Amino acid sequence: MFVNKNILITGGAGFIGSHIVRHFLEKYPRYRIINLDVLSYAGNLENLRDIERNPNYTFVKADIRERKLLSGIFQRYRPQAVLHLAAETHVDRSINSPGDFVQTNIAGTLNLLQEALSIWQKDFTGKLFYHISTDEVFGALGSEGFFTEQTSYSPQSPYSASKAASDHMVRAFGNTHKLPFIISNCSNNYGPNQFPEKLIPLLIHNINQHKSLPVYGDGNYTRDWLYVGDHAQAIDLIFHHGKTGESYNVGGHNEWSNIDLARLLCKKMDRKLKKEEGSSEKLICFVKDRLGHDRRYAIDASKMNKSFGWKPSVSFEEGLDLTIDWYLENVDWLKNIVSGAYQDYYRKYYGYL
Ligand code: NAD
Ligand code: DAU
Repeated sequence: MFVNKNILITGGAGFIGSHIVRHFLEKYPRYRIINLDVLSYAGNLENLRDIERNPNYTFVKADIRERKLLSGIFQRYRPQAVLHLAAETHVDRSINSPGDFVQTNIAGTLNLLQEALSIWQKDFTGKLFYHISTDEVFGALGSEGFFTEQTSYSPQSPYSASKAASDHMVRAFGNTHKLPFIISNCSNNYGPNQFPEKLIPLLIHNINQHKSLPVYGDGNYTRDWLYVGDHAQAIDLIFHHGKTGESYNVGGHNEWSNIDLARLLCKKMDRKLKKEEGSSEKLICFVKDRLGHDRRYAIDASKMNKSFGWKPSVSFEEGLDLTIDWYLENVDWLKNIVSGAYQDYYRKYYGYL
């Protein structure tokens, strides 16, 4: 469908985006991938060092909040499809800086929709705006039940409210202008290259540094974890075979309370670091809760399974081992992030920040 065509991926220097860029370049050598990313604190070109010289890859440093700039990029590359991942993504940051989330996640998405519409509206054939969203738009669950594609939106944090608004805007463009779109809503991802403000890499890093392990509130908040490679595979299937105008829920069917997850990581790290059994667990400390903390997320991914036969292929044990090993083998990646040195990388290679 997209042979020899340009695909614009936004947020490709971030965690999930970098896995998507690599996945598409490796699997579809006839696509030209344009990675548009502003390189915020969460964007890191070191994530893509291995593919940056691929002739089918172009990096464009740009901000989706800047409509004029986007207009020039759309005119220049005339993408046939947009795979939109760029966003402010950390719930804790959204509590203190909600304006950044409104600007990037809502206004930025609107800018992309308007630019896609302006170059596609004469002929929508073969065009697609694929918006990557989150399960957090559905709000919080009690101890029972799952989010399906029919669950009503009920976002509870400034982050999830901004993602919900962007989903609504995408659907509104589909309804009003017939812009071909697909949305997917995924549960918590983990894996290599995740910025260490998020729970799993933060715990791995702190265990390795023998620092305390902050667990919010009573620790009984539950998340449904999915290995990032399985999310990339789901996105590939949806991108190529999904029905326009529809949404797909993607999840790991793998619920863990934060405290159980922290204990599991401690056990695994004790073994890997050859520490005395139980020593990392002593680092766990319960800290002040996140404001408005959502109790539980859990995805019903049966539509993905029925539509494409998709299900997670990496078990949690296996995925956590892959993830821990990656962080232990890539200490420089982490060091550069903690010191901020990763931002020098693109200054050096691209001549600007
Ligand atoms: P991330 O924070 O690791 O990366 C976000 C990327 O977007 C970074 O490279 C950043 O530089 C870029 N970006 C931010 N603001 C920008 C702007 N104004 N213009 C251009 N680029 C900008 O994010 P992630 O965890 O990889 O998430 C990617 C997408 O997937 C997001 O839309 C997020 O809502 C969604 N999602 C994430 C998860 C998860 O568990 N991480 C789960 C479900 C959905
Ligand atoms: O559900 C999908 C969402 O998952 C994505 O849309 C978001 O972009 C992504 O950040 C993630 O949101 P969470 O808030 O669930 O992820 P986070 O890693 O920040 O936190 C996971 C859980 O762990 C949550 O219940 C809060 C808790 N936590 C987090 C941190 C950073 C702690 O207990 N201690 C911590 O230090």
